[in-house]
Amino acid sequence: MKFFIDTANLEEIAQAVDMGMVDGVTTNPSLVAKENKPFEALLKEITALVDGPISAEVISSESDGMVEEGRQLAKLHPNIVIKVPMTTAGLKAVKQLAEEGIKTNVTLVFSPSQALMAAKAGAAYVSPFVGRLDDISENGLNLVQDILTIYENYGFTTEIIVASVRNPIHVVESALMGAHIATIPFKVISQLAAHPLTDIGMEKFLADWSKRPRK
Ligand code: E4P
Repeated sequence: MKFFIDTANLEEIAQAVDMGMVDGVTTNPSLVAKENKPFEALLKEITALVDGPISAEVISSESDGMVEEGRQLAKLHPNIVIKVPMTTAGLKAVKQLAEEGIKTNVTLVFSPSQALMAAKAGAAYVSPFVGRLDDISENGLNLVQDILTIYENYGFTTEIIVASVRNPIHVVESALMGAHIATIPFKVISQLAAHPLTDIGMEKFLADWSKRPRK
């Protein structure tokens, strides 16, 4: 499973890169707004840190605007992937951008039918938001399984980015299902590495080591 980091924060990205946990990056308007940098300058700095797909989201709600923004963002670096919302205008933009050889990530996906349509339009990636579904008492992970089944049934090459990840279980269950990618907040990357028995084991080893005979 590929790990993308779901942040626009350069320090978090650099720390996760140093752990070898970053195959790509996803940003969104809310994440970018938290950082104190112009969008394009920030994206350029991210491309210098990570050699992998970096999703940058469009703001327009009309397809022509999305396509124009997508073209401009794609010029910044070959690794930029254009994040497009799952609307009918978004689908039209995805089709156009795909025809121009620009990769897209269809975001805000909450149903299997939306994921099917994104793949048919030519999206390189689709992002089902599992945490936001859990928040409204729907099992977000069921959506990931449904999309995997549909894509496998018809041989779609669109990759699934499990998004809106809130905890390690979202990542592990998605990996068991065979989802291609999870985009993970820095906090959850740290949680995935942690186990209390590892900490207890380390403490015991070090305590025993301090008691070893010195001569
Ligand atoms: C996905 O690409 C989004 O950036 C992200 O996963 C949204 O997560 P949230 O629901 O925690 O905001």
